[in-house]
Amino acid sequence: MKSLQGKSIILGITGGIAAYKAAALTSKLTQKGAEVHVIMTSSAKQFITELTLQSLSKQKVYSDTFQERDPSSISHIDLADAADLVLIAPATANIIAKMAHGLADDMLSTTLLATTAPIMVAPAMNVHMYQHPAVLSNMDILYNRGVQFIEPGEGLLACGYVGKGRLEEPEEIVKVVENFFVLQKEKTSGPLAGKKVVITAGGTVERIDPVRYISNDSSGKMGFALARTARTMGAAVTLIAARTDEAPPRDAGIDLVRVQSAQEMHDAVMARWSECDILVKAAAVADYRPRESSDSKIKKSGSTMTLELVKTTDILESLGRIKDKQFLIGFAAETGNAEVYAKDKLVRKNLDLIVANDVAVEGAGFGTDTNIVKVYDAEGLVLDLPLASKDEVARRILRLAAERVTGALI
Ligand code: CTP
Repeated sequence: MKSLQGKSIILGITGGIAAYKAAALTSKLTQKGAEVHVIMTSSAKQFITELTLQSLSKQKVYSDTFQERDPSSISHIDLADAADLVLIAPATANIIAKMAHGLADDMLSTTLLATTAPIMVAPAMNVHMYQHPAVLSNMDILYNRGVQFIEPGEGLLACGYVGKGRLEEPEEIVKVVENFFVLQKEKTSGPLAGKKVVITAGGTVERIDPVRYISNDSSGKMGFALARTARTMGAAVTLIAARTDEAPPRDAGIDLVRVQSAQEMHDAVMARWSECDILVKAAAVADYRPRESSDSKIKKSGSTMTLELVKTTDILESLGRIKDKQFLIGFAAETGNAEVYAKDKLVRKNLDLIVANDVAVEGAGFGTDTNIVKVYDAEGLVLDLPLASKDEVARRILRLAAERVTGALI
């Protein structure tokens, strides 16, 4: 079967020189089996003809909201309802702005408001336009609304400048579209479909005063990889993230909760505990916090200062005590003796699995894109992973969990 067989894709073409590439894109998507419904803006028609796109897609091409040829239906609503995906390629700064602000003054922008289908945008414009704060902030609005961007490539632009702004090549756009549908299928039929997974990530922040805090080197990368992977495997994911180096994933299906302190993380986890099937505590939670946190900046006085610290609640240990049907995975970041400490934590915190890593070893631990881990259950070692990407580590850990929770062999 062709990879895009049975998929209805609205291809929105807007007015930029790259509109000519939309012909190849239409042709490739159609050859892969997709039903491609082209909607052009009036400026796109200056660059490419309706007849070209109609011949390639073998479908009626739309360009005007009021061009209603069939009295029994309203085209933009019917198209919007039937679409599995809306792809805008090329997308000008103008359509990006209209989408961000909900304007609907032609067939394409109206359809974009009427559809509930996922939306992908492949921008193409002059390098300075692409970097303009207005364009960046409009893209940010759309990104946070779940729109997926296909980043423009770098190279010689039609305007003579060299830089970022060139529409991604049609072959690459098609690959992104194919991948999107593969992932979408996995999300509804993947090994964790129907399961609720809670992931904690990052390092907690324990305030001393409004400008000072105690934290740690956790980057959040391992937790983010786990959240993305769990989502890809079909789970409904809640990502509870403390301080992290990078922005957390914003994929649809990942519910992001931001916290600061160990106490806030504790409360956020507890609030979701009864609904949860699998909980992964990848966060580096502070073991101690200042006894007092000052509301105003502490002024210096004297030659020494003593900060009294008190123990935070061990979230994982509390969960281990009240565990019912939930599958509990902890992390043990150690600098030496990882196996001994990890096994002790597994028993002490009543965990189902513990992921141990020696953060002193190169390629493992905080801030890196890779990790080296050993996973233990109550019986002993169940997974020994030499240097692998954090995505791969996440996949292997969650596969183990999925097998044990669902009983299926993955
Ligand atoms: N953890 C937690 N709450 C805490 C401290 C740790 O939930 N207050 C969790 C971490 O998220 C991690 C696991 O416990 O999954 C192990 O964290 P670690 O700091 O290595 O364990 P500790 O029990 O604090 O042991 P140590 O004596 O090594 O500090």
